[in-house]
Amino acid sequence: MGVLKHYRELLPVTEKTPDVNLEEGSTPLIYLPRVSKRLGDGVKLYGKFEGCNPSGSFKDRGMVLAVAKALEEGKRAVICASTGNTSASAAAYAASQGISCFVLLPAGKVALGKLAQALMYGAKVIAVKGNFDRALELAREGAEKTGCAMVNSVNPYRLIGQRSGAWEICDVLGKAPDWHAIPVGNAGNISAYWAGYNEYKKLGKISSLPRMMGFQAEGAAPLVFNKPCPNPETIATAIRIGNPVSAHLARAAVSESGGEFNSVTDEQILEAQRILAAEGGVFAEPASCAPLAGLLKLKRAGKLPDGITITMVLTGNGLKDPDTAMSQVGKPIEINDTLEDLMQVLGE
Ligand code: F0G
Repeated sequence: MGVLKHYRELLPVTEKTPDVNLEEGSTPLIYLPRVSKRLGDGVKLYGKFEGCNPSGSFKDRGMVLAVAKALEEGKRAVICASTGNTSASAAAYAASQGISCFVLLPAGKVALGKLAQALMYGAKVIAVKGNFDRALELAREGAEKTGCAMVNSVNPYRLIGQRSGAWEICDVLGKAPDWHAIPVGNAGNISAYWAGYNEYKKLGKISSLPRMMGFQAEGAAPLVFNKPCPNPETIATAIRIGNPVSAHLARAAVSESGGEFNSVTDEQILEAQRILAAEGGVFAEPASCAPLAGLLKLKRAGKLPDGITITMVLTGNGLKDPDTAMSQVGKPIEINDTLEDLMQVLGE
């Protein structure tokens, strides 16, 4: 039914708020028995597969509200900087409402599927010769000068909408998980989930809160190393961010919940992506696999207790980044169109 309708009473939606809806949210919370086994006795691992959202990532949950509120305020254009998913989402919602969308992307550092999306949805796509952090500064200045609605997560409505992910998890599990594992880039989503869990606790819908476990790529881990990273680098381009704008909120989420930040290497991320696909049947983009990589790392270090329930947010669809996927898997087996050739393969 879409996030605005589903959680209307928890969102700043009034009768003046336009009814924006791409049927985002209500994504599957998938129990992953084979992957759970790797994490220990009685561990229950669930993936919240945000790749099922209309633009293929979690960004749609907040974008629907940000765009609705922009329209309510009379705006006819939106602007954002993005490592790819925010831009795809902004472009989709802008298209659905017939308003303009400007997106600033770090040139050459956005996964192919995301670029294709923004262009197909009809956004004006601007490739900035610089990293995401610089593109974000420029987008903010551009928004100020032009009056376009800024729809990065500095827009408070984005993070409010993204709380719906936590609400859905609790609605389905009937409780909060013990651990909530999530990739951290610009640090908005971990903050939104923490706020969402807290809101549900205040409402009496859950009785405990999860430990918030935030995972970053080693080459772009400002929250792990506690200082901005001037030249972030990682194969997980979605979280190639050196100076997260919501760092303070993310730090609060982790310390209040007794959680932690941890880093994982690109190799570990790619290994986790293969495990999730080959043992879970879920194809998520590299950034989304940082949490699984991190959980496996904690397990190896003896720091993952048995018997706990863990949710991890699979933030984006694996189809968004076919290049990275193809670079780590084998080629198809090519045969002549004969039964003999086929039997040679099947008989192997
Ligand atoms: N996973 C994916 C697939 C993302 O696209 C992002 C962020 C994150 C995780 C991290 O979330 O920033 O809230 O900590 N992508 C942004 C973008 C930066 O522009 O699409 P965060």
